[in-house]
Amino acid sequence: MKKIACLITLVIAIEANAQNRMSATDSLRRDSLRRVMQQATQQDYKDMLDQLHIESTRPGPSGNPQAPNAANADEAKASPYTTLPDPLILKSGKKVTSARMWWQQRRPEIVEEFDREIYGRVPVNVPKVTWEVTSTTDTTIGSVKAITKNLLGHVDNSSYPQIKVDIQMTLTTPANAARPVPVMMEFGFVFPPGFRFPPPAGTPVEKSGMQQVLEKGWGFAVIVPTSFQADNGAGLKQGIIGLTNKGQARKPEDWGTLRAWAWGASRAVDYFETDKSVDSKKIGIEGLSRYGKAALVAMAYEPRFVIAFVGSSGAGGAKILRRVFGEQVENLAGSGEYHWFAGNFIKYAGPLTPNDLPVDAHELIALCAPRPVFISSGSPTVEGQWVDAKGMFLGGVHAGPVYKLLRKKDLGTTEFPAIETPLVDGEIAFRQHSGGHTTGPNWATFLKYADRYIK
Ligand code: GCU
Repeated sequence: MKKIACLITLVIAIEANAQNRMSATDSLRRDSLRRVMQQATQQDYKDMLDQLHIESTRPGPSGNPQAPNAANADEAKASPYTTLPDPLILKSGKKVTSARMWWQQRRPEIVEEFDREIYGRVPVNVPKVTWEVTSTTDTTIGSVKAITKNLLGHVDNSSYPQIKVDIQMTLTTPANAARPVPVMMEFGFVFPPGFRFPPPAGTPVEKSGMQQVLEKGWGFAVIVPTSFQADNGAGLKQGIIGLTNKGQARKPEDWGTLRAWAWGASRAVDYFETDKSVDSKKIGIEGLSRYGKAALVAMAYEPRFVIAFVGSSGAGGAKILRRVFGEQVENLAGSGEYHWFAGNFIKYAGPLTPNDLPVDAHELIALCAPRPVFISSGSPTVEGQWVDAKGMFLGGVHAGPVYKLLRKKDLGTTEFPAIETPLVDGEIAFRQHSGGHTTGPNWATFLKYADRYIK
């Protein structure tokens, strides 16, 4: 068992290091380690099903549009549901009519349901994190002279020294800033300075988000989620989740990976509060895809984030889970993605259904109110339909009543807009760019929007 744990740690370490150069023997070794890890994931998944007394779940549709069981991409079949949970009706049936009722009664009810059924509970005993600046380098981003700090957040593991957890982060700020700067933080990977993924096919090349942010005179931080919680089921007995469970399996209400990644983002804000180059009252969070989901979860649970840029978050993010379009709850609850959530979430792929969920994605967005949330997506013809842009738009639409109750503006329409039409007049914003699976082409629109809130 201990040996498997060591192997898993090794694979996680290899996977976390995107710059690893591999020889042929290394890659053979990696393949066999990956098999070990897949087995460990299957075992953990099965253990969770046993705890839930579930024998099997419904399989999800395929993400391949050509497959016989392809996910639905026909809008006419997307909305078999007739109602969504009402964010402004208490469980007692009483209508929420004041901001006070929202904050004191309804919001805690919604948080409880997301905690218990979807993202899981953060344990009370999560140990302290001590940040260390491991190195500082001078760099140039575009034309901006900047300073990059490499940071490690050491998690106190004295309760269970077998598991060591360090949060990796970089913080880049303009070298000649006269005062503390706002910071946009991204869930992402650490690459050498200047490195960029090639843009997805069909996506116009533009300046990186980081460059645009630095050119505004703001700072840009990258937190590496997989440095403190692996992106697979095998890793659940490791990382910050494993540490708090002393290497044991999760219980059905325990936190999943998304909630753990969001916890790490909060610890990063703790660090920003101690760094004199940062204006810690002006921190935003951004992420794409699974990290888009993480960005929305972080924003919902961490009031110190003042704005969020939520990229192609899809199912498990801003998309209404009850919609039968693109990725489904059955996919999220399968062995490849269940780790993102509380074990309890698996129940909704059998015996329960998504219609039994006590909350849906619009209420996750509502938890961010009154703070601004920009929901971003690519073009369905380039990015594909899996993320369900309209489902994310509807998440924004149905969060609107809560924003309005708090005297903020909603999306301003319930009509799904054409591509490249920014809906940016309110505190909930939405835009589909014309490219693929990236936040890239929406950075410029997002930053203009953010200017309204961050001076
Ligand atoms: C898969 C998964 C999505 C996820 C995406 C990603 O497509 O089904 O839910 O957002 O991977 O993170 O890349």
